[in-house]
Amino acid sequence: MNEKIKALREELTEANYRYYTLDQPTLSDHEYDRKLRRLMELEAASGLPVPPDSPSQRVGAQPAEGFVSVRHSLPMLSLENGFDFYEVREFEERIRRFLGWTEPLVYVCEPKLDGLAVELIYEQGLLTRAATRGDGTTGEDVTHNIRTVRQIPLRLRSAPPEVLAVRGEVFIDVVQFQRLNREREEAGEQTYANPRNLAAGSLRQLDPAITASRPLRFFCYGVGEVSQTLAHTQHGLLEALGMLGLPVNHRIKLCPDLEAVIDFLREMEESRHDLEYEIDGAVIKVDDLALQDRLGQKARAPRWALAYKFKAVQEATTVQEIMVSVGRTGALTPVAILEPVFIGGVTVSRASLHNFDEVARKDVRKGDRVLVQRAGDVIPEVVQVLDPDREDRSEPFAMPRTCPVCGSEVVRLEGESAHRCVNLACPAIVKESIRHFAAKGGLDVEGLGPKLVDQLVEQGLVNDPADLFFLTKEDLLGLERMAEKSARNLIQTLDAARRRPLERLITALGIRHVGEVQARALAKRFGILEELMMAEEKQLLDLDGIGSQVAQSVVTFFSTPANKDLLAKLEKAGVEPQAPEPEEGEVSSLAGKSFVLTGTLEGLTRAEAKALIQRAGGRVISAVSKKTDYLLAGENPGSKLTKAGELGVAVLDLEGFHRLLAEKNNGENNNG
Ligand code: IVH
Repeated sequence: MNEKIKALREELTEANYRYYTLDQPTLSDHEYDRKLRRLMELEAASGLPVPPDSPSQRVGAQPAEGFVSVRHSLPMLSLENGFDFYEVREFEERIRRFLGWTEPLVYVCEPKLDGLAVELIYEQGLLTRAATRGDGTTGEDVTHNIRTVRQIPLRLRSAPPEVLAVRGEVFIDVVQFQRLNREREEAGEQTYANPRNLAAGSLRQLDPAITASRPLRFFCYGVGEVSQTLAHTQHGLLEALGMLGLPVNHRIKLCPDLEAVIDFLREMEESRHDLEYEIDGAVIKVDDLALQDRLGQKARAPRWALAYKFKAVQEATTVQEIMVSVGRTGALTPVAILEPVFIGGVTVSRASLHNFDEVARKDVRKGDRVLVQRAGDVIPEVVQVLDPDREDRSEPFAMPRTCPVCGSEVVRLEGESAHRCVNLACPAIVKESIRHFAAKGGLDVEGLGPKLVDQLVEQGLVNDPADLFFLTKEDLLGLERMAEKSARNLIQTLDAARRRPLERLITALGIRHVGEVQARALAKRFGILEELMMAEEKQLLDLDGIGSQVAQSVVTFFSTPANKDLLAKLEKAGVEPQAPEPEEGEVSSLAGKSFVLTGTLEGLTRAEAKALIQRAGGRVISAVSKKTDYLLAGENPGSKLTKAGELGVAVLDLEGFHRLLAEKNNGENNNG
């Protein structure tokens, strides 16, 4: 077993390196996950201590109570900025003057990633600590969270120095930022303003499992304290770090002179939007480390480097109005209505202000001139007010005390950034819930657009998602711009939507904190809605990717009377979600089959029987219904046996059960 553990550790470590650092994947995500699970099982069964660099140790730490401050052994400096090529030329002038240098000057140019700076400490090649930059002198210990970033090696390759402090930037790709924001929106959570905030927010999670679920990336760009010289040039240093298995941006460039630097800056600025991550400029560094040494630093920034900042995709415009929209969860979102302005290729006329705190912090008011930028190059945001000292400004923005749609009370729960309308029947909430229910990740009812939902709710034809299934063609024909053919199609689509996969229905319900990912995990584990409805918090917590916040939210959802009514109504409407199909590699005759246990099983505890069933792809549920596949009955069975007889559910004794399992094994052998 020890050999197997060792081999798996090596294989997974190598796979991580190839996937994340070399960009040459060797395993599919599914294979990786399966092997990782196997490794964790073997490690647990071996009873031996697990070394900190095992791939199984990336997650698994307990949530932290808070963050501990750490002092950097060498301060983490910031950079001086340059905003045009003139200032770049001045930078070289300053260097020449300071050194009295007339020889050529070689530079390294690096994209300036817009994330957050961290320092990783490796001792004897092992990652022992990671800290944020903080104020440059003292940062926060984020070791547990950094360990979840699969691009960051837990152990360095080849011959590492005894002590190595690596510095670099943690960031997230723009598409991941967009995807996560979409999921958060679906799950009724506040969105992040830009990829940088998302990366920073992810690193500052107390629960490393949350950080692990955010695909953070890392590139290193320098070192702090090191116990031995790694190189004599910046370019050589980056190469050496790459050899140690650390991820280095391949878009760096060695430039023999300042003209080459300026060419690079021009190219980067032009192609910045083609990159998968956000950059806000490029960093120019003197290549020769001996020269860097002689140049030294000013108060907070080195003399040997300059951050060339790109022209921001920002424009000034005027706030015509601050409106408040009401979302599916009742959350009130302030939105700035802007005088239309052309920014980076698109016309922007609205910008989200996210929540009240955000508006208050920026003190945005109606009539203000503001700077607007496209963050993540999609959602426009207000950066700042340009004339905050103007005498005739309007009053500071206040959240309405009553819902702008239905007039009900607005509350702000403790610890939440959002203000919410408390009226579950608020037309805005009803409309948004129905839109969400019928949206792509949900039951995917094509042809049921936002305008149509508005009409259905306003005409009183639909008051909740279940009402959709009671609509008739005649109901639809009475609506504006609804022709015979579209009405017929919509009724057909709705009928097909009755049999969508369970995970889609779970997503469609709009349970807070439950997006597509969580819904999939829940559907896989419980198989049928009735089981999920009865699930207890601790069963939910056993699932990958389900933390206490999600678990609580699920339990609360299913115990709320209005939601129980909705589910009963959906059942009455003939909604029959389909049980999940087993994934590739999981095919077996018991996949998707449900078992109920009753009586005493000789030589087998309930937990063991349950494990056998689960390992073969089946599920154990608590109550017999007509959907149950098998009743496993031992000695002294109870009323469940009678019920199974009544409903025609197959009854197995212990022998029959073992035979079924054996068949399943044969089936697997036959398949390959
Ligand atoms: S060098 C003394 N290189 O920019 C060297 N910084 O404005 C200081 N950054 O805190 C850092 N990409 O978070 C350096 N290639 C790069 C960088 C980079 C992004 C960030 C870093 C730093 C900030 C300074």
